[in-house]
Amino acid sequence: MEKTLVLIKPDAVERNIVGEILTFYEKQNLKITALKMLKATEDMAHLHYKIHEDKPFFKDLIAYITRSPLCALILEGDNAIEKVRKINGNTDPSKAEQNTIRGTFAVSKTENSVHASDSTETAQKEISIWF
Ligand code: CMP
Repeated sequence: MEKTLVLIKPDAVERNIVGEILTFYEKQNLKITALKMLKATEDMAHLHYKIHEDKPFFKDLIAYITRSPLCALILEGDNAIEKVRKINGNTDPSKAEQNTIRGTFAVSKTENSVHASDSTETAQKEISIWF
């Protein structure tokens, strides 16, 4: 059984689509084992996105992720990390498949509705930031 960290990001919470997004995961047999709403602090955002600190979009990314509440959750299931990334779809909504969360809801490359961990090590680190 694998664990992964998901953030349902500000653009999605603002548009009242948290429930619809959770349904994508639950329908694929992933278990929600923790869930909370919070507004990310600058420190949390910097820790979470440290790997992107040299990217040109970093400042906009931090402003976006801290602007209003998000929903953090832990999902558990077989092959959860890869499964959730498939359900989320491509980072760039113009490249995301229609039946993915980003293909359905994402607004732009930055405002792309969801985040998920990309490895077991990252999942462990990200869970400790948000829970
Ligand atoms: P996420 O899965 O949370 O991981 C890093 C985030 O940076 C990504 O989703 C997007 O929100 C954002 N991002 C990645 N690439 C770009 C880009 N080229 N331009 C703007 N934002 C980006």
